[in-house]
Amino acid sequence: MKEQFKPGTMIYPVPAALISCGKDEEEYNVFTASWTGTICTDPPMCYVSIRPSRHSYEIIKRNGEFVINLTNEALARATDWCGVRSGRDFNKFKEMNLTPAPTQVIHSVIVEEAPLSIECKVEQIVPLGSHDMFIARVVNVLADRRFMDNETGAFKLSEAKLIAYNHGHYYKLGEMIGKFGWSVQKPLKGKNTKHRK
Ligand SMILES: Cc1cc2nc3c(=O)[nH]c(=O)nc-3n(C[C@H](O)[C@H](O)[C@H](O)COP(=O)(O)O)c2cc1C
Repeated sequence: MKEQFKPGTMIYPVPAALISCGKDEEEYNVFTASWTGTICTDPPMCYVSIRPSRHSYEIIKRNGEFVINLTNEALARATDWCGVRSGRDFNKFKEMNLTPAPTQVIHSVIVEEAPLSIECKVEQIVPLGSHDMFIARVVNVLADRRFMDNETGAFKLSEAKLIAYNHGHYYKLGEMIGKFGWSVQKPLKGKNTKHRK
C-alpha cells in the first residue's frame, strides 16, 4: 500500500554540488545546488536550476559560465554553509577556507579542494517557475590528481568519499553493491561459483 503525497520534488538522492562562478576575484562566488545533473552524454551537457533571487544568478547569467564542483566528506560543512549564506553578505571562499583556483577553459574559478570540477558554458536559460534552468555544455573537467591511478590512468572517483543529499539530509555513500551490467554478466570460467544459482 502506498500513501499519496501532493506533487513535489521527491527524486532523491541528488548531489549537493558547490557551484562556483565569477570572472574576477571581486565577483567570485560559490553556492550549493542540488538541482543539478547530467542531461546529455554527447555532447556532454548538464544543468543547474537557480532561483533568480540568488546572488549567483546574475553572475552566471551575465558571464554565461559556471563550474560544478563535486563535494566530499571533507567539504560537507562548507557545502551546507554555502547553501545557507549569500555571497551578498560574505566572501564564502574566505569564510570556509576554500581555495579559489583558476579554470582552464572558461574565465572563472574552481574550488581547489573539490575532487572534480566541471567547467560549463551556458547555452540556454529556461524559466520554469521558482527556478530558471541553466542548460550548459561541459567544456572541461579538472580532476584531483590524488584520485588518479598513475599506472592505469583511471580516475578513482569511488575513493573521493563523495556525499549525497537525501530529502533534507547529507549522507556519505555506502558500500559498492555492483558494477554497470553486473546483473546480466555470465559467471567467469574457472572461478568459484558455489554461491551462484
Ligand atoms: C543542499 C542544498 C541544496 C540547494 N540547492 C539549490 C539549487 O539547486 N538551486 C538554488 O537556486 N538554490 C539552492 N540552494 C540554496 C542556495 O545554495 C542558497 O540560497 C545560497 O545562499 C545562495 O547563495 P548566493 O546568494 O551566494 O548565490 C540549496 C541549498 C542547500 C543547502
